[in-house]
Amino acid sequence: MSIQIGLIGAGGIGGIHALAIEAAGSTLAAIHDPDHDRAVALAESAGGARVHDSVESLLADDAVQGVVLAVPNCLHSPLAVQALEAGKDVLIEKPMATTVEECDRVIAARDASQNIVQMGFVCRMAATSMAARKVIESGRLGRIYHARATLYRRRGIPGLGRWFTDRARSGGGVLIDLGPHLLDLLLHLCDRPRVRSIDCHTTSCFGHPPSGYRFTDMWAGPPDPDGPFDVEDGATALLRCDDDLSLSLNMSWASHLPEGTIPDGVTLFGEKAAMHFEILNDKPLIIGSELDGELVDTTQPVRSGEDWNTAFRRQHERFARNVLSREAPSASAEEGRTVQALLAAMYRSAEAGASVSVDEALV
Ligand SMILES: NC(=O)c1ccc[n+]([C@@H]2O[C@H](COP(=O)([O-])OP(=O)(O)OC[C@H]3O[C@@H](n4cnc5c(N)ncnc54)[C@H](O)[C@@H]3O)[C@@H](O)[C@H]2O)c1
Repeated sequence: MSIQIGLIGAGGIGGIHALAIEAAGSTLAAIHDPDHDRAVALAESAGGARVHDSVESLLADDAVQGVVLAVPNCLHSPLAVQALEAGKDVLIEKPMATTVEECDRVIAARDASQNIVQMGFVCRMAATSMAARKVIESGRLGRIYHARATLYRRRGIPGLGRWFTDRARSGGGVLIDLGPHLLDLLLHLCDRPRVRSIDCHTTSCFGHPPSGYRFTDMWAGPPDPDGPFDVEDGATALLRCDDDLSLSLNMSWASHLPEGTIPDGVTLFGEKAAMHFEILNDKPLIIGSELDGELVDTTQPVRSGEDWNTAFRRQHERFARNVLSREAPSASAEEGRTVQALLAAMYRSAEAGASVSVDEALV
């Protein structure tokens, strides 16, 4: 299925969307970015999409059927509302917004316009995540009592001193950057459990000297040494859920831990078997269980030959299908809002230095 897409934001992830749109068989028809040269360069590499000077002009482009928002987090909600009011379906990069109130504005605009909002929770679209979901659905793990997601970047602060590290524009640091991916995936794999309380600890150690962080080869860079850094660069959270399930999230933008010391990915502990997998990599599902009184390794290959870009391609195939068939999106605005509410509770817990309960009305 093929649709005409308008891309707002031609930065790092905008470039990946441009490739994925083409790979999915859709057309990148229009681009807007206030950095005009960047928009022109991406348009040229993507086969000559129209470059618009303003968001309004792109949204008035009748050929555009769906809009992708690949802009700083603080712009997600206002631009989504604007696009929905202009009659467009929208794919919003994660996080959905910077606050729950902003998510509510998007949902209200979606309901008023009857347009589609799909969340960019691309980790669900990875071959390993999809295979893991099938294993869980088969009942092979039994009841899951604990699930953890870990992503420790070593030298991975995005755009140090630019919008990613400026709370006013990002809404936070690593927690709101990597957290939506990890949290959404755990909620999705564990059948959307009801979270009761959260204990979260955040750290901010690498943004300013004397941390020793002098790395300059960064996503959304180059670094601006005089720019803001008022966000966290490490976070750990424990989420207690109904049915005696707990989730744990462990993430960093930077640390001095040698690569490979702790495996990144998702680990699910079930009463019948346990499973670990790396998100987005063409790696096996490592599964352990008991047979005749012995622990056995029944690791299952995924053999997809896939990478990060394939998951984005799948996301765009799904977006085109949603737009044309008006099917419910694979990752809904409500799911985006739940992630946002839980992230907000994590920030409250980190600030209070204590566990916080999660209000049912909020999630
Ligand atoms: N799904 C993923 O794995 C993933 C990965 C990276 C980033 N992201 C998300 O994508 C979004 C963009 O991140 P990025 O890494 O591409 O950042 P970036 O800084 O590389 O690019 C952002 C782009 O938005 C443009 N922009 C700023 N204001 C704008 C406006 N008013 N209208 C249109 N464009 C505007 C900037 O000029 C820039 O080109 C963020 O929300 C981020 O969380 C998602």
